[in-house]
Amino acid sequence: MIQLEDPADQAMVAKIHEADQDHLFDDWDQLDSAARHSLLKDLHHIDLSFIQQLIRDHLDSSASEAPIAAPTPPDWIPLADPGRATARQRGLEALQRGEVAVLMVAGGVGTRLGHPGPKGSFPILPISGGTLFQIFSESLLRLQKMVGRSIHWIIMTSPTNHAETLQYFRQHDYHGLTPSEVTIVPQEQLPVLDSRRCKILRSGPGQVMFSPDGHGGSIRLLQRTAADLRQRGIHHIYTHQVDNPLARMADPELIGLHIEQDSRFTSKAVAKTDPDEKVGVFCSVGDHLRVIEYSELGEEDRHLKNPDGSLSFRAGNIATHVIELDFIAPETASGPLQLPFHVARKAIRHWHGGEWHEPTSANSIRFETFIFDVLPLANRGLVVEADRDLEFAPVKNGEGSDSPATSRSALQKLWASWLVQCGIELEFDPSLQPLRTIEISPLVAGDATELKKALEKLEIPPEGPILLR
Ligand code: UD1
Repeated sequence: MIQLEDPADQAMVAKIHEADQDHLFDDWDQLDSAARHSLLKDLHHIDLSFIQQLIRDHLDSSASEAPIAAPTPPDWIPLADPGRATARQRGLEALQRGEVAVLMVAGGVGTRLGHPGPKGSFPILPISGGTLFQIFSESLLRLQKMVGRSIHWIIMTSPTNHAETLQYFRQHDYHGLTPSEVTIVPQEQLPVLDSRRCKILRSGPGQVMFSPDGHGGSIRLLQRTAADLRQRGIHHIYTHQVDNPLARMADPELIGLHIEQDSRFTSKAVAKTDPDEKVGVFCSVGDHLRVIEYSELGEEDRHLKNPDGSLSFRAGNIATHVIELDFIAPETASGPLQLPFHVARKAIRHWHGGEWHEPTSANSIRFETFIFDVLPLANRGLVVEADRDLEFAPVKNGEGSDSPATSRSALQKLWASWLVQCGIELEFDPSLQPLRTIEISPLVAGDATELKKALEKLEIPPEGPILLR
């Protein structure tokens, strides 16, 4: 065991030794003082007894995840429900009273997309090259103008992309938003373990390998900051993912339905038509709603159909929710809600025994929580149907499905449909893609009606790309 001068450091070294993780100091003699300092700082951040508890709960041979008991398709509020228009008005009023904050989860590492920076800095806009962050910032600006007040925006990053995200927003002057109304804050992270012996892995000599604790980290973030949010008068948190450029910011209709139905957790869902589409689905289990991930829904249930031919389990999760702050962070003695942890296994390059290892099969374990895992704990939850063409075009993979190409194509179709509704003539190819490239900033319009108004002051060029900003 290494010997250190500082008693707090020495006590931590003793704990590492007790937990049988001494290999973390293997490179100690070769580290310079800055690297030693950084290693000690990281180790002080690890709650070893919590990690050991996670190992006991999830990885000991006797531990196994409980199977999900007989899920059934849930009720949802369909697109045609006549009450939606009045709900929108209620939602607008809640926004005007300043009761809603928006939280964007943007802590993922985005390995599948292959983009080097934070996912939100991906240039998704087809003409200007504007980013996902820009779309959401401008959508929020539009909404703020509509309701006549600022709306607090929390952007959850992870320790890996936090500094870059902050830098991005500073460099872009927060795309016109007031910086004090935007809180950019990292989620927590947990050490990654080796899957055979549960040793903490290293990402380099003297470096602990960490991974974000899943988007459920946003629930813990809200719980940590609940007092501040309450002081700002906020009761409802509207959450969405950074990877979906069509995700609506603080959609008044969803907020209104959530309030009218006195819901604790309200979610948008699109109708799944392909049983193999990789989205989670909302289900009822007993009296509660929950999301069952694509991989967890049995083959038979996945293909089950209603008499009209639609899929029975078709309420696909697009990860847009309204959450009641008092539900996840009650001001009572019972304390905040606890989320279950899931185990993810991946092949990961790591440093061990003085050399790099490049495994070809899963060698690592990380623990993650999911935001929607609080849904089964809610005594009242709600699922609301959303139109896929208007609200869901995620950017997840570099190529193929859910890629920049499919997402841009969905944006083109949507903007072209608005222009056509405004009486603008456009030509389309056989796949119904407009022949001219179109880009409409959220600052100009968020739907066809708003665009019609904006076109009173804007000119559409006779040919070539159509950029409306
Ligand atoms: C997720 C949902 C799935 C849903 C789909 C819709 C899970 C387990 N599944 O799948 O039900 O149908 O989105 O697009 O979530 N993130 C963090 N911190 C983390 C991990 C992720 O902020 O530690 C963020 C990412 O930045 C991203 C979002 O969470 O914005 C989704 O993460 P991702 O891993 O891409 O989810 P999917 O597997 O695609």
